[in-house]
Amino acid sequence: MKQRHIPALFLTLALVLAACAPVPQPLPRRQLPSAGTSLELAVVTDLHFLSPSLVREGEAFTAAYAYGDGKQINYISQLLEVFLQEMLERRPDAVLITGDLTLNGERVSHLELAERFLPLRQAGIPVLVIPGNHDIGNAFSSGYNRDKLYDVRSVTWQDFAEIYQNCGYGEAVSRDTASLSYLYPLSEDLWLLMVDTNLYDREGARSIPQNAGALSQETLRWLEDRLREAQRQGVEVVTATHHGLLDHTSRGMDGYVLDNAEEMLALCEKYGVRLNLSGHVHIQDIAGTRWEGQPFYDIATSSYAVYTNQYGLLEYRPGESITYRTQEADVEGWAARTGSADPQLLNFEDYSYRFFYDISYERSYVNLVMAQLNKDADLEFMAQTMAILNPAYFSGYAAELREEVRASDHYAMWKKHSGFAPIGYINSMLAPRELDPRRLTVPLQ
Ligand SMILES: [Fe+2]
Repeated sequence: MKQRHIPALFLTLALVLAACAPVPQPLPRRQLPSAGTSLELAVVTDLHFLSPSLVREGEAFTAAYAYGDGKQINYISQLLEVFLQEMLERRPDAVLITGDLTLNGERVSHLELAERFLPLRQAGIPVLVIPGNHDIGNAFSSGYNRDKLYDVRSVTWQDFAEIYQNCGYGEAVSRDTASLSYLYPLSEDLWLLMVDTNLYDREGARSIPQNAGALSQETLRWLEDRLREAQRQGVEVVTATHHGLLDHTSRGMDGYVLDNAEEMLALCEKYGVRLNLSGHVHIQDIAGTRWEGQPFYDIATSSYAVYTNQYGLLEYRPGESITYRTQEADVEGWAARTGSADPQLLNFEDYSYRFFYDISYERSYVNLVMAQLNKDADLEFMAQTMAILNPAYFSGYAAELREEVRASDHYAMWKKHSGFAPIGYINSMLAPRELDPRRLTVPLQ
């Protein structure tokens, strides 16, 4: 991310067939890395892929991305391609995707996505997915035909496991019968527990996606059995979930932390799990807690569809540490290499920033108008504060703007009108976080 400063406010800102189904050639057999092997893992989340075959440009599609929550759905296919190319170059030992693979659970999007993961699988890179709250039985699964939306099929939980047969479900050592959770050994001394935290109808009925998530008692029992076995074998375990196990927002928003997180955390404590990888909240953040001297961390990687379009890279060094850092996708480099003539792709960092800035500005401005503040409130001025903070906050860079914003006239105006305006949200973005949102070292000694 480029360094962006508050002074900008004072200038002119007023203004993917089941890929995983019929496979043309057999996938390479995977040799389980031996104990003591260092591994590199990539984690990407909340991709919200929408198959281009479901889009005929027009008002309906424009409304879906231009007035949404900052997801760059208009470039999601290119963003996916950049990620896949970067993975083929980097060749990590596994790629993890912690849910919300699709925009709204469209069956066609799932099928296309699974197919687009195939080159990674053929290159010997395991791709491991779990669903998010948007991926299964979604009543909003739609295509876009100029000015109209039309209904398209979503998937059942059984469809999901079948479509992603080569993306975790077919190679799992153990699968939970009560959810789409599974155990995948990354090496002889590191296991990955991919835990499905979502609430969907198991009979296949479609419904409005629930933001909240929870684990059933059956899934918790399955989880404990796997953790007990890992402990018996002296194997390190990393867990992955869509919903967070710890709060990443400083304001306890409903539905982002797993409803019964304390039950999964109790198991993590009992069996010495030190790290969970999550998504869902779309905000880049790392939260931690400590049990009798042993730290535990939940890393929420920000949505890949949202500025600054990043993913996480982990290094596992057996008996030493697991490190995590964010990596921004180089869309501009990819666009230049592939001869793109699209100026937005060729200047994607600025375009993506401006896209999220504008959405944040418009939303804030409308909310301020509706709040009917006193006449002396400069609504444009106040909306700019939100617009400049939001992209930084979501991508884990808010700390770099904190002091400048706090000292600004813009923030002073928010404080002056704090009785009406949602200054709580501004303050939560400005609140110092205990941990760096973008990098972490977890000691394993
Ligand atoms: Fe989600």
